[in-house]
Amino acid sequence: MSEVLIQQNNLSEAVSYLKNYINETPKIAIVLGSGLSHFAEQLSDKIIIDNNDILNYPKSTVVGHSGKIIFGRIKDNKKTSPYLCCFQGRVHLYESGNIKLTSFPIDVAFKLGVETLIITNAAGGINKNYHPGDLMLIKDFLNLTFSSPLRGFLTSKTKSNSFFSQKLIDVAKNVASENKINLQEGVYCWTKGPCYETASEIKMMNFLGADAVGMSTTPEVMKANYYGMEVLGISCITNMGTGISKQKLTHSEVTEVANKVKEKFTTLMKEIILSIDSQ
Ligand code: HPA
Repeated sequence: MSEVLIQQNNLSEAVSYLKNYINETPKIAIVLGSGLSHFAEQLSDKIIIDNNDILNYPKSTVVGHSGKIIFGRIKDNKKTSPYLCCFQGRVHLYESGNIKLTSFPIDVAFKLGVETLIITNAAGGINKNYHPGDLMLIKDFLNLTFSSPLRGFLTSKTKSNSFFSQKLIDVAKNVASENKINLQEGVYCWTKGPCYETASEIKMMNFLGADAVGMSTTPEVMKANYYGMEVLGISCITNMGTGISKQKLTHSEVTEVANKVKEKFTTLMKEIILSIDSQ
């Protein structure tokens, strides 16, 4: 059996498994990157699925990526969000080397009926005006892996020539200003990893126009765009890139800083989701 067929079987198995647990169609999918999983814990009417219970579902091996899918919604005093599907953690290209696995959750989300994707990650700051703990809206990306999950797929359903939704960027900026949250906006550079960059690589990325660097997100965004979803990307700047910061970078520093921005990140996400509904 070909690789593509095996994937399709896995996809329909995963989708029917999940459909057994939910009575509604999720409208917004949220991918929660390194150290940012806590967001899903405050959903109401939660349904929690462990990826390990889904046959052949790609598993993350990275600390801070818990590997659960959580359905539910955000509620405040006045508003209730559309039904959400949160992916806690993800599989990176460096884990399996299989580009198709990196965007598998997006395939699942699309088949479940999701129309909007909010995707988050931890990233290293390249722009010297950034600081650890900043949140950055992703306006575009640089793909330094030169890989794509769209190999074998033809034209994308999206009409725009941008991978990210300007409407959602505007929603996020309004919400941030109402809640006095400082937001950066920049270009995300995708590398294969798993090692952090050298100081020379960070200089090169800066020269190419990148504001932040990380090892994820781009393949998921490409796939979501292919499906015609509206996409918003948010990076949590957990550290400054090698050479900008003189200290040696570690994964625990990344998750620690992500943990410190918990409150700001949660408020921003919550308010964005509630505002999408009111559009
Ligand atoms: N480089 C690559 N990926 C990252 C970084 C970094 O500095 N910080 C968090 N994820």
